[in-house]
Amino acid sequence: MESGEGSASVVGHVHAADGIVVRLRPVAEPDLAMFRRFAVEPGLIGLDWAGFRDPGAPARRYAEDGYLGPEDGRLIVQAEPERAAAGFVSYRSGTYDGKARHWEIGIALLPEWRGRGIGWRAQALLCDYLFAHSPVQRVQAGTHPENVGEQRSLEKAGFRLEGVIRAAEFRAGAWRDGWLYSRLRDDPSPL
Ligand SMILES: CC(C)(COP(=O)(O)OP(=O)(O)OC[C@H]1O[C@@H](n2cnc3c(N)ncnc32)[C@H](O)[C@@H]1OP(=O)(O)O)[C@@H](O)C(=O)NCCC(=O)NCCS
Repeated sequence: MESGEGSASVVGHVHAADGIVVRLRPVAEPDLAMFRRFAVEPGLIGLDWAGFRDPGAPARRYAEDGYLGPEDGRLIVQAEPERAAAGFVSYRSGTYDGKARHWEIGIALLPEWRGRGIGWRAQALLCDYLFAHSPVQRVQAGTHPENVGEQRSLEKAGFRLEGVIRAAEFRAGAWRDGWLYSRLRDDPSPL
């Protein structure tokens, strides 16, 4: 990984084996259209589809803090050289002991950008970014038992499976288990 250059390449980037460059960058106003699509197009976000959401929420949140809040936020996954917004990664603060904080991350790529080696690199980049800029020991991510793509993507990003969270979420008409993964600060980065 190397540091980005210029205002549109703040976080860093990594070259994929096939020549694709994946970059994380802050959300910009034109990205809000993609967020609105994820909010109102059934299934576009994948298994995390939870019904229609307020399409005005992204503009309000962007106006508030640019999706860069101290407790949670989003970064755009940009594919280059197209400079296309391929999707986004998210992070949210949590705690188990009431004192130390950890991050829980998430990701959603647009369908046309899936399966091209972008997802695992984006999640590995996000871990490196969060470990560099906050003193957390732990980054975790939950996924669905049937989401083989995300499981493999997390493993390639340096995460390890911790276990099953029973009845973790109400989704698609039923309570469903989740699988919890984590990457600790001392675990090796694959980048
Ligand atoms: C899940 C997601 C982030 C994975 O990112 P991606 O860019 O599609 O995946 P990658 O190209 O980085 O693939 C990583 C590995 O997973 C494998 N993989 C990817 N999608 C797969 C699928 N649907 N089934 C089986 N394996 C899959 C790849 O082959 C690769 O493994 P390999 O290098 O051994 O071949 C992306 O598909 C996505 O955004 N899906 C919809 C939203 C979602 O499910 N988010 C996670 C919610 S918990």
